[in-house]
Amino acid sequence: MDGSESDDLDHLFSETVRETMDGSVYGAWRSIRDADAVPLSFGFPYPESFPNGELVSAAESLFEYEGDRALQYGGGEYADALPAVIVERARDRGIDCTTSQVHLTNGATNAIDTACQTFLDRGDTVFVEAPTFMGALRLFRNYGVDIEDCEMDENGLDVEALAADLAAREEAGDPLPKLLYTIPNFHNPTGVTLPEGRRERLLELAETYDFLVLEDDPYGQLRYDGTEPPPIRALDGTGRAIRINTFSKTVAPGVRTGWIIAEEPFVEQFDRINAGGEPSYTRGLIARYAEEGRLDRAIEELCAGYRERRDRMMESLADRMPPGTTWSEPDGGFFVWVEFPEGVDAEGMLPDAIDEGVTYLPGSFFYAGDNGTRHARLSFSHVPPAAIDEGIAALATAVRAEVPAIGAGD
Ligand SMILES: Cc1ncc(COP(=O)(O)O)c(C=O)c1O
Repeated sequence: MDGSESDDLDHLFSETVRETMDGSVYGAWRSIRDADAVPLSFGFPYPESFPNGELVSAAESLFEYEGDRALQYGGGEYADALPAVIVERARDRGIDCTTSQVHLTNGATNAIDTACQTFLDRGDTVFVEAPTFMGALRLFRNYGVDIEDCEMDENGLDVEALAADLAAREEAGDPLPKLLYTIPNFHNPTGVTLPEGRRERLLELAETYDFLVLEDDPYGQLRYDGTEPPPIRALDGTGRAIRINTFSKTVAPGVRTGWIIAEEPFVEQFDRINAGGEPSYTRGLIARYAEEGRLDRAIEELCAGYRERRDRMMESLADRMPPGTTWSEPDGGFFVWVEFPEGVDAEGMLPDAIDEGVTYLPGSFFYAGDNGTRHARLSFSHVPPAAIDEGIAALATAVRAEVPAIGAGD
């Protein structure tokens, strides 16, 4: 069947697909690559961080212990044990929960999608940080909701600007949000972290204006400096905070195992709506792997590896970037948010930057509306430290070429 015949069947797509099909495919940004360019675009873990050997031993012992049950529908005892592992680890971070408040998913992406399916109707309003994780933006778009930007500053979501916006909407009779999506720790793409006071204020606003807070925290345990503020879910006394997490960054993305912690009536609906989305084999594998403190030791090693990369990127930016460039200084996670000098269009500059030998993601990818043209997300997570230097050197050359007034000096 050629393309023209398949076009004739477009009317069979759902209304939602017809409305959104011109948007790019989730993950299309991964195509920003060039064999010769340093991929600072990829928010991927560095490959040497994957616990291949440990996962092989965990798989062997899982099969020895459980036999066929490891691969049967629902999995065996280890699969059953993972919610308890999650609860214990959540308690260590101040979240008081039980296994009946945990729903397992196929990664954080499937968790966000499950929350969307459970809570959103077409025409609802969803508030997002501007900028935000583009994967989440694409999921929200699939639900026909209005996506509204919330202002951020160097401490994350600007909760007083949010309070003013909510009050103005209420006064004007404009729609209020059903849900606010936030990445409070080492935000993707900006790298910033929301302080405890702002978390509390956000929960107050959620109660006053009757909305849910979707807390997505894939990076919280990858902290290289400072101390962790309590998770939003830990501060919540109203049941409005729904917490999403994943093993993608602490074990590996390929295990596709994430979870949601929420009130039990919500979890009952997640179990129903996302039937079939729960992993069974990999949840058994992770439960086996996490025994005897292995996951905690792995996280310590990951933090050492990422800290070195973060430090290298900070030094390299300071040494090489031309005047007028600024960047965030993350205490953890994978990302640095760069603002280029006046006159630079980050999307327009990308082909030249790739020719110079570096890839990044233009800031505009991370906004629901038109914004972020002078910004880029750089990821220090994926490449070795020496490659970070090469990538930043190439970026500095591209910026200088874009704004000749800066000059070619150091
Ligand atoms: C904020 C955020 N949420 C979710 C995800 C996706 O996680 P997962 O691989 O578990 O679907 C990412 C990964 O890039 C992310 O940065």
